[in-house]
Amino acid sequence: MIPFVDLKSQYHSVKEEVDAAVARVLESGQFVLGPEVAAFEEEFAAYCHARHGVAVNSGTSALHLALLAAGIGPGDEVITVSFTFVATAAAIHYAGAKPVFVDIEPESYTIDVTQIESAITERTKAIIPVHLYGQAADMDSILEIARAHNLIVIEDAAQAHGAEYKGRRAGSMGHMGCFSFYPGKNLGAYGEGGMVVTSNPEYSRAIAMLRDWGQERKYHHTVKGYNYRMEAMQAAILRAKLRHLEQWTECRRANAARYDRLLANSEVQAPAALPHNRHVYHVYSVRSDDRDDLQQTLQEQGIQTGIHYPVPVHLQKAYADPECRPGDLPCSERAAGEVLSLPMYAELSESQIDAVCSAIPEAVNV
Ligand SMILES: Cc1ncc(COP(=O)(O)O)c(C=O)c1O
Repeated sequence: MIPFVDLKSQYHSVKEEVDAAVARVLESGQFVLGPEVAAFEEEFAAYCHARHGVAVNSGTSALHLALLAAGIGPGDEVITVSFTFVATAAAIHYAGAKPVFVDIEPESYTIDVTQIESAITERTKAIIPVHLYGQAADMDSILEIARAHNLIVIEDAAQAHGAEYKGRRAGSMGHMGCFSFYPGKNLGAYGEGGMVVTSNPEYSRAIAMLRDWGQERKYHHTVKGYNYRMEAMQAAILRAKLRHLEQWTECRRANAARYDRLLANSEVQAPAALPHNRHVYHVYSVRSDDRDDLQQTLQEQGIQTGIHYPVPVHLQKAYADPECRPGDLPCSERAAGEVLSLPMYAELSESQIDAVCSAIPEAVNV
Protein backbone atom coordinates (compact mmCIF):
# COMPACT_ATOMS: atom_id res chain seq x y z
CA MET A 1 0.00 0.00 0.00
CA ILE A 2 1.34 3.45 -0.88
CA PRO A 3 -0.50 6.13 1.08
CA PHE A 4 -1.28 9.53 -0.39
CA VAL A 5 0.32 11.25 2.61
CA ASP A 6 2.27 9.69 5.44
CA LEU A 7 2.29 11.93 8.50
CA LYS A 8 3.38 9.12 10.81
CA SER A 9 6.71 8.48 9.13
CA GLN A 10 7.49 12.20 9.21
CA TYR A 11 6.67 12.29 12.93
CA HIS A 12 9.03 9.37 13.57
CA SER A 13 11.84 11.20 11.77
CA VAL A 14 11.57 14.21 14.15
CA LYS A 15 10.00 12.52 17.18
CA GLU A 16 12.63 13.54 19.73
CA GLU A 17 12.51 17.22 18.79
CA VAL A 18 8.72 17.33 18.61
CA ASP A 19 8.23 15.47 21.87
CA ALA A 20 10.67 17.82 23.58
CA ALA A 21 8.80 20.84 22.18
CA VAL A 22 5.47 19.51 23.45
CA ALA A 23 6.94 18.80 26.89
CA ARG A 24 8.37 22.33 27.01
CA VAL A 25 4.93 23.82 26.44
CA LEU A 26 3.28 21.53 28.99
CA GLU A 27 5.88 22.61 31.56
CA SER A 28 5.51 26.29 30.67
CA GLY A 29 1.82 26.39 31.54
CA GLN A 30 1.27 28.91 28.69
CA PHE A 31 -0.94 27.40 26.03
CA VAL A 32 -2.26 30.23 23.86
CA LEU A 33 0.00 32.84 22.16
CA GLY A 34 3.01 33.65 24.40
CA PRO A 35 6.75 33.24 23.76
CA GLU A 36 6.58 30.07 21.62
CA VAL A 37 4.14 31.72 19.22
CA ALA A 38 6.18 34.95 19.15
CA ALA A 39 9.37 33.00 18.38
CA PHE A 40 7.66 31.02 15.62
CA GLU A 41 6.29 34.24 14.10
CA GLU A 42 9.78 35.67 13.93
CA GLU A 43 11.35 32.50 12.56
CA PHE A 44 8.71 31.81 9.92
CA ALA A 45 8.55 35.45 8.77
CA ALA A 46 12.35 35.37 8.33
CA TYR A 47 12.02 32.10 6.39
CA CYS A 48 9.54 33.87 4.07
CA HIS A 49 11.80 36.94 3.71
CA ALA A 50 9.12 39.10 5.34
CA ARG A 51 9.52 41.46 8.30
CA HIS A 52 6.49 40.43 10.35
CA GLY A 53 4.46 37.30 10.98
CA VAL A 54 1.16 37.07 12.84
CA ALA A 55 0.19 33.53 13.79
CA VAL A 56 -3.46 32.51 13.77
CA ASN A 57 -5.50 29.33 14.14
CA SER A 58 -5.86 28.43 10.43
CA GLY A 59 -5.02 29.48 6.90
CA THR A 60 -8.65 30.49 6.47
CA SER A 61 -8.40 32.88 9.44
CA ALA A 62 -5.16 34.26 7.95
CA LEU A 63 -6.98 35.13 4.70
CA HIS A 64 -9.99 36.54 6.55
CA LEU A 65 -7.88 38.84 8.73
CA ALA A 66 -5.62 39.92 5.86
CA LEU A 67 -8.75 41.07 4.00
CA LEU A 68 -10.08 42.91 7.08
CA ALA A 69 -6.69 44.56 7.72
CA ALA A 70 -6.77 45.81 4.13
CA GLY A 71 -10.14 47.41 4.89
CA ILE A 72 -12.10 45.11 2.59
CA GLY A 73 -15.78 44.64 3.40
CA PRO A 74 -19.34 44.71 2.08
CA GLY A 75 -19.70 46.13 -1.44
CA ASP A 76 -16.09 45.32 -2.34
CA GLU A 77 -14.93 42.83 -4.95
CA VAL A 78 -11.87 40.64 -4.73
CA ILE A 79 -10.45 38.97 -7.84
CA THR A 80 -9.29 35.41 -7.39
CA VAL A 81 -9.48 31.95 -8.96
CA SER A 82 -12.19 29.33 -8.79
CA PHE A 83 -9.73 26.43 -9.16
CA THR A 84 -8.62 26.45 -5.51
CA PHE A 85 -9.61 25.07 -2.14
CA VAL A 86 -12.93 26.61 -1.12
CA ALA A 87 -11.29 28.55 1.76
CA THR A 88 -9.94 31.21 -0.62
CA ALA A 89 -13.46 32.21 -1.64
CA ALA A 90 -14.99 31.55 1.79
CA ALA A 91 -12.62 34.05 3.42
CA ILE A 92 -13.73 36.73 0.95
CA HIS A 93 -17.34 36.03 1.94
CA TYR A 94 -16.39 36.11 5.65
CA ALA A 95 -15.16 39.67 5.08
CA GLY A 96 -18.52 40.51 3.49
CA ALA A 97 -16.99 41.03 0.04
CA LYS A 98 -17.66 39.26 -3.26
CA PRO A 99 -15.21 36.94 -4.98
CA VAL A 100 -14.87 37.61 -8.71
CA PHE A 101 -13.40 34.57 -10.41
CA VAL A 102 -11.06 34.57 -13.36
CA ASP A 103 -9.76 31.49 -15.14
CA ILE A 104 -6.43 29.76 -14.65
CA GLU A 105 -3.52 29.39 -16.98
CA PRO A 106 -3.69 25.68 -17.95
CA GLU A 107 0.04 24.87 -17.63
CA SER A 108 0.68 26.23 -14.13
CA TYR A 109 -2.91 26.08 -12.75
CA THR A 110 -2.40 29.62 -11.38
CA ILE A 111 -4.38 32.77 -12.20
CA ASP A 112 -4.41 33.75 -15.89
CA VAL A 113 -2.99 37.25 -15.59
CA THR A 114 -4.27 38.22 -19.05
CA GLN A 115 -7.82 37.99 -17.71
CA ILE A 116 -7.43 40.12 -14.58
CA GLU A 117 -7.85 43.61 -16.06
CA SER A 118 -11.17 42.85 -17.72
CA ALA A 119 -12.52 41.67 -14.32
CA ILE A 120 -11.66 44.96 -12.57
CA THR A 121 -14.58 47.26 -11.72
CA GLU A 122 -14.83 50.37 -9.55
CA ARG A 123 -15.64 48.02 -6.65
CA THR A 124 -12.46 45.90 -7.00
CA LYS A 125 -10.21 46.29 -3.97
CA ALA A 126 -7.84 43.34 -4.05
CA ILE A 127 -6.43 40.37 -5.94
CA ILE A 128 -5.78 37.03 -4.24
CA PRO A 129 -3.48 34.92 -6.40
CA VAL A 130 -3.28 31.30 -5.22
CA HIS A 131 0.11 29.60 -5.47
CA LEU A 132 -1.60 26.32 -6.22
CA TYR A 133 0.14 22.99 -5.60
CA GLY A 134 3.28 24.85 -4.42
CA GLN A 135 4.02 26.93 -7.52
CA ALA A 136 3.88 30.74 -7.45
CA ALA A 137 1.53 32.65 -9.73
CA ASP A 138 2.96 35.21 -12.19
CA MET A 139 3.57 37.82 -9.49
CA ASP A 140 5.35 40.48 -11.60
CA SER A 141 2.30 40.84 -13.85
CA ILE A 142 -0.11 40.73 -10.89
CA LEU A 143 1.82 43.40 -8.96
CA GLU A 144 2.02 45.62 -12.04
CA ILE A 145 -1.76 45.42 -12.60
CA ALA A 146 -2.36 46.01 -8.88
CA ARG A 147 -0.14 49.10 -8.88
CA ALA A 148 -1.86 50.51 -11.95
CA HIS A 149 -5.32 50.09 -10.38
CA ASN A 150 -4.38 50.75 -6.75
CA LEU A 151 -5.31 47.26 -5.57
CA ILE A 152 -4.12 45.24 -2.57
CA VAL A 153 -2.43 41.90 -3.32
CA ILE A 154 -2.91 39.11 -0.79
CA GLU A 155 -1.03 35.92 -1.68
CA ASP A 156 -2.77 32.68 -0.82
CA ALA A 157 0.42 30.78 -0.05
CA ALA A 158 -1.35 28.03 1.92
CA GLN A 159 0.29 25.42 -0.34
CA ALA A 160 3.56 27.22 -1.01
CA HIS A 161 5.88 27.32 2.02
CA GLY A 162 9.32 28.15 0.65
CA ALA A 163 8.19 28.44 -2.97
CA GLU A 164 10.05 31.09 -4.95
CA TYR A 165 9.29 33.32 -7.92
CA LYS A 166 12.40 34.82 -9.53
CA GLY A 167 14.23 34.31 -6.25
CA ARG A 168 11.52 35.93 -4.11
CA ARG A 169 9.73 33.86 -1.50
CA ALA A 170 6.00 33.15 -1.62
CA GLY A 171 4.16 35.38 0.83
CA SER A 172 6.71 38.21 0.63
CA MET A 173 5.76 39.70 -2.74
CA GLY A 174 2.25 41.03 -2.20
CA HIS A 175 1.06 43.32 0.61
CA MET A 176 0.39 40.23 2.72
CA GLY A 177 0.90 36.49 2.36
CA CYS A 178 -1.28 33.84 4.02
CA PHE A 179 -0.13 30.38 5.04
CA SER A 180 -1.85 27.28 6.38
CA PHE A 181 -0.19 24.78 8.72
CA TYR A 182 -2.91 22.17 8.37
CA PRO A 183 -1.27 18.77 9.12
CA GLY A 184 -0.74 17.65 5.51
CA LYS A 185 0.82 20.95 4.39
CA ASN A 186 4.56 21.14 3.59
CA LEU A 187 4.98 22.62 7.07
CA GLY A 188 2.18 21.04 9.06
CA ALA A 189 1.10 21.40 12.67
CA TYR A 190 -0.46 18.60 14.73
CA GLY A 191 -3.76 20.43 14.59
CA GLU A 192 -4.83 23.67 12.90
CA GLY A 193 -2.65 26.72 12.31
CA GLY A 194 -1.98 29.62 9.97
CA MET A 195 -0.01 32.84 9.58
CA VAL A 196 -0.08 36.16 7.79
CA VAL A 197 3.35 37.47 6.81
CA THR A 198 3.88 41.06 5.74
CA SER A 199 6.55 43.71 5.72
CA ASN A 200 4.00 46.40 6.57
CA PRO A 201 3.91 47.10 10.34
CA GLU A 202 0.39 48.57 10.14
CA TYR A 203 -1.10 45.40 8.71
CA SER A 204 0.83 43.33 11.21
CA ARG A 205 -0.48 45.39 14.15
CA ALA A 206 -4.07 45.31 12.87
CA ILE A 207 -4.02 41.53 12.38
CA ALA A 208 -2.42 40.90 15.79
CA MET A 209 -5.30 42.86 17.34
CA LEU A 210 -8.06 41.26 15.25
CA ARG A 211 -6.95 37.68 16.05
CA ASP A 212 -7.11 38.38 19.80
CA TRP A 213 -10.55 39.89 20.35
CA GLY A 214 -9.56 43.27 18.98
CA GLN A 215 -7.64 44.07 22.14
CA GLU A 216 -4.35 45.91 22.41
CA ARG A 217 -4.40 45.55 26.19
CA LYS A 218 -6.26 42.82 28.05
CA TYR A 219 -10.01 43.59 28.26
CA HIS A 220 -9.66 46.84 26.30
CA HIS A 221 -11.26 46.17 22.93
CA THR A 222 -10.30 48.74 20.31
CA VAL A 223 -12.01 46.96 17.42
CA LYS A 224 -14.43 44.03 17.12
CA GLY A 225 -12.13 41.05 16.86
CA TYR A 226 -12.04 37.25 16.76
CA ASN A 227 -10.68 34.34 18.73
CA TYR A 228 -8.20 33.28 16.03
CA ARG A 229 -5.12 32.81 18.24
CA MET A 230 -2.47 30.16 17.61
CA GLU A 231 -1.89 27.60 20.36
CA ALA A 232 1.59 27.47 21.90
CA MET A 233 1.75 23.70 21.36
CA GLN A 234 1.33 24.10 17.60
CA ALA A 235 3.92 26.89 17.50
CA ALA A 236 6.47 24.79 19.40
CA ILE A 237 5.88 21.82 17.07
CA LEU A 238 6.09 24.05 13.99
CA ARG A 239 9.36 25.58 15.23
CA ALA A 240 10.87 22.11 15.54
CA LYS A 241 9.65 21.14 12.08
CA LEU A 242 10.66 24.43 10.41
CA ARG A 243 14.32 23.46 10.93
CA HIS A 244 13.75 20.53 8.56
CA LEU A 245 11.60 22.28 5.97
CA GLU A 246 14.33 23.07 3.44
CA GLN A 247 15.57 19.49 3.48
CA TRP A 248 12.00 18.16 3.15
CA THR A 249 11.38 20.54 0.27
CA GLU A 250 14.48 19.33 -1.54
CA CYS A 251 13.27 15.74 -1.08
CA ARG A 252 9.87 16.68 -2.56
CA ARG A 253 11.62 18.34 -5.52
CA ALA A 254 13.82 15.29 -6.08
CA ASN A 255 10.74 13.05 -5.91
CA ALA A 256 8.98 15.28 -8.44
CA ALA A 257 12.02 15.12 -10.75
CA ARG A 258 11.92 11.31 -10.61
CA TYR A 259 8.19 11.27 -11.38
CA ASP A 260 8.78 13.73 -14.25
CA ARG A 261 11.45 11.50 -15.74
CA LEU A 262 9.47 8.30 -15.49
CA LEU A 263 6.23 9.84 -16.74
CA ALA A 264 7.75 11.81 -19.63
CA ASN A 265 6.31 9.59 -22.37
CA SER A 266 3.39 8.14 -20.46
CA GLU A 267 -0.28 8.66 -21.11
CA VAL A 268 -0.50 11.27 -18.33
CA GLN A 269 0.78 14.82 -18.49
CA ALA A 270 3.29 15.65 -15.75
CA PRO A 271 2.97 19.08 -14.06
CA ALA A 272 4.87 22.01 -15.55
CA ALA A 273 7.24 23.94 -13.29
CA LEU A 274 8.00 27.29 -14.88
CA PRO A 275 11.77 27.93 -15.12
CA HIS A 276 11.76 31.04 -12.89
CA ASN A 277 9.82 29.23 -10.14
CA ARG A 278 10.97 27.08 -7.26
CA HIS A 279 8.02 24.68 -7.15
CA VAL A 280 7.71 23.06 -3.70
CA TYR A 281 5.30 20.30 -4.81
CA HIS A 282 2.78 20.41 -2.02
CA VAL A 283 0.80 18.42 -4.57
CA TYR A 284 2.19 16.50 -7.55
CA SER A 285 -0.75 16.57 -9.92
CA VAL A 286 -0.80 14.84 -13.29
CA ARG A 287 -3.46 15.23 -15.97
CA SER A 288 -5.32 12.49 -17.75
CA ASP A 289 -8.29 12.37 -20.13
CA ASP A 290 -9.20 9.20 -18.33
CA ARG A 291 -8.68 10.42 -14.79
CA ASP A 292 -11.36 8.44 -13.00
CA ASP A 293 -10.32 5.13 -14.58
CA LEU A 294 -6.69 5.83 -13.79
CA GLN A 295 -7.54 6.60 -10.17
CA GLN A 296 -9.46 3.33 -9.97
CA THR A 297 -6.56 1.35 -11.53
CA LEU A 298 -4.11 2.84 -9.04
CA GLN A 299 -6.48 2.22 -6.14
CA GLU A 300 -6.75 -1.46 -7.13
CA GLN A 301 -2.97 -1.68 -6.87
CA GLY A 302 -2.95 -0.13 -3.40
CA ILE A 303 -1.85 3.32 -4.54
CA GLN A 304 -3.80 6.16 -2.94
CA THR A 305 -4.33 9.35 -4.90
CA GLY A 306 -6.29 12.59 -4.44
CA ILE A 307 -8.13 15.12 -6.61
CA HIS A 308 -7.35 18.78 -5.98
CA TYR A 309 -10.03 19.81 -6.72
CA PRO A 310 -12.91 17.95 -8.39
CA VAL A 311 -15.34 20.90 -8.48
CA PRO A 312 -14.22 24.52 -8.98
CA VAL A 313 -15.71 26.96 -6.47
CA HIS A 314 -18.05 28.65 -8.97
CA LEU A 315 -19.73 25.27 -9.60
CA GLN A 316 -20.17 24.48 -5.90
CA LYS A 317 -23.78 24.65 -4.77
CA ALA A 318 -22.94 26.88 -1.82
CA TYR A 319 -21.09 29.41 -3.99
CA ALA A 320 -23.24 29.46 -7.11
CA ASP A 321 -23.09 32.91 -8.68
CA PRO A 322 -25.42 34.02 -11.48
CA GLU A 323 -22.56 36.09 -12.91
CA CYS A 324 -20.23 33.08 -13.17
CA ARG A 325 -21.96 30.07 -14.68
CA PRO A 326 -20.91 26.63 -15.89
CA GLY A 327 -18.78 27.11 -19.00
CA ASP A 328 -17.51 30.56 -17.97
CA LEU A 329 -14.13 29.31 -16.73
CA PRO A 330 -13.23 26.57 -19.23
CA CYS A 331 -9.62 25.95 -18.12
CA SER A 332 -10.67 25.60 -14.47
CA GLU A 333 -13.56 23.32 -15.34
CA ARG A 334 -11.41 21.15 -17.59
CA ALA A 335 -8.62 20.88 -14.99
CA ALA A 336 -11.15 19.80 -12.35
CA GLY A 337 -12.12 16.85 -14.55
CA GLU A 338 -8.56 15.78 -15.43
CA VAL A 339 -6.17 16.33 -12.49
CA LEU A 340 -4.99 13.50 -10.29
CA SER A 341 -2.61 13.99 -7.37
CA LEU A 342 -0.04 11.22 -6.89
CA PRO A 343 1.54 10.37 -3.53
CA MET A 344 4.03 13.13 -2.64
CA TYR A 345 5.99 13.69 0.56
CA ALA A 346 9.61 13.94 1.63
CA GLU A 347 9.66 10.39 2.99
CA LEU A 348 8.39 8.82 -0.26
CA SER A 349 11.06 6.35 -1.44
CA GLU A 350 12.40 5.90 -4.97
CA SER A 351 10.97 2.40 -5.05
CA GLN A 352 7.53 3.73 -4.08
CA ILE A 353 7.70 6.28 -6.91
CA ASP A 354 8.77 3.53 -9.30
CA ALA A 355 5.82 1.41 -8.15
CA VAL A 356 3.37 4.28 -8.73
CA CYS A 357 4.77 4.89 -12.21
CA SER A 358 4.74 1.23 -13.18
CA ALA A 359 0.98 1.29 -12.62
CA ILE A 360 0.59 4.15 -15.14
CA PRO A 361 0.34 3.08 -18.79
CA GLU A 362 3.38 3.88 -20.96
CA ALA A 363 5.47 5.19 -18.04
CA VAL A 364 9.10 4.10 -17.89
CA ASN A 365 9.29 0.88 -15.90
CA VAL A 366 12.17 0.68 -13.48
C1 LIG B 1 -5.19 27.20 -1.32
C2 LIG B 1 -5.66 27.15 0.11
N1 LIG B 1 -6.15 28.26 0.69
C3 LIG B 1 -6.56 28.27 1.96
C4 LIG B 1 -6.52 27.15 2.74
C5 LIG B 1 -7.08 27.19 4.13
O1 LIG B 1 -6.22 26.78 5.12
P1 LIG B 1 -6.77 26.07 6.46
O2 LIG B 1 -7.22 24.71 6.09
O3 LIG B 1 -5.57 26.06 7.36
O4 LIG B 1 -7.85 26.91 6.99
C6 LIG B 1 -6.00 25.96 2.20
C7 LIG B 1 -5.88 24.75 3.02
O5 LIG B 1 -6.36 23.72 2.90
C8 LIG B 1 -5.58 25.96 0.83
O6 LIG B 1 -5.10 24.84 0.27
